[in-house]
Amino acid sequence: MIERLNKIKSLAVAQIVEVNDFDSLNELKVRTLGRKGEITMLLRGLKDLNGQERIEAGRAANEIKDNLEKLIDAKTAELKARELEHKLKEERIDISLPGLPLPLGGKHPITMIADEIKNIFIGLGFSIAEGPEIESDYYNFEALNMPRNHPARDMQDTFYINEEMLLRTHTSPVQVRTMEKMAPQIPVKIIVPGKVYRKDDDATHSPMFNQVEGLLIDKNITFANLKGTLMLFAQRIFGEEVRVRYRPSFFPFTEPSAEMDISCVQCQGKGCRMCSHTGWLEILGAGMVNPRVLQYGGYDPEKVTGFAFGMGIERIAMLKYGINDLRLFFDNDKRFLKQF
Ligand code: PHE
Repeated sequence: MIERLNKIKSLAVAQIVEVNDFDSLNELKVRTLGRKGEITMLLRGLKDLNGQERIEAGRAANEIKDNLEKLIDAKTAELKARELEHKLKEERIDISLPGLPLPLGGKHPITMIADEIKNIFIGLGFSIAEGPEIESDYYNFEALNMPRNHPARDMQDTFYINEEMLLRTHTSPVQVRTMEKMAPQIPVKIIVPGKVYRKDDDATHSPMFNQVEGLLIDKNITFANLKGTLMLFAQRIFGEEVRVRYRPSFFPFTEPSAEMDISCVQCQGKGCRMCSHTGWLEILGAGMVNPRVLQYGGYDPEKVTGFAFGMGIERIAMLKYGINDLRLFFDNDKRFLKQF
């Protein structure tokens, strides 16, 4: 019997060494050590042996069972360790891999042009002023020499909150607001970027758009200062070769008033569809600050003079980039915005 036990043992030991997975190991364990396993079956024959033999065979059988159990436990531990190692290798996170690219935002073309305009004037010593978009009738019209029922109000119809408050139609109210704060100090040298509103809506007009206002007040300011400043501005934005011209115009808050045109950026003045074959493109309104507006702002028109101008940022951007529909700026179509 001991011989047969040893045979079972050496066979089992050899198999344990070879086994490579939990299922086969378990199957082997049941087959040798289980309740219906080879050893158990063999031990049924114990009762047929005599005393001494039975004791020795019993002892040998227990030893072999112990041994095999230990070997199986060791193998189980080994398989577990191997499995863990494999899992760790498989599931390893490679932190050296570059991450997924996040789409980066960029500046909106209107913001880009506004920044460009601001930088040009900051370079000339202007500072930036701001004012409310919900404005009073007084600052938006009255203090700019546009009394109630003045026909010039018609060109700037807007959204009224009530009789007294409205969405500002231009950045010009910040002229008077700034003068009030600064008077009688000179110089006043500001630009005013910001949103304005009008009851307009077509390919070149939208209910909300952006303007930049400019105001310079000092001793002995003349139309020559206005021309020099705006000429330089046009060259910085549209290139050295651009030409400008002034046409007489009317604004209640400037006198005299003018509109400034630049030579067409598309045909250089020869005449094309973009400039309606005139060779010129209108880009801003300007003029010498009306004495009455200086007075509203707290300045003495006998002592100081000034010039002011106002331009639409969208219009400058459309001309500069050759865009023919203003609404593209507000659609948030990335295919459009990515081009800038
Ligand atoms: N505020 C005027 C407009 O919106 C532009 C302008 C500003 C004209 C300053 C003259 C001086 O049309």
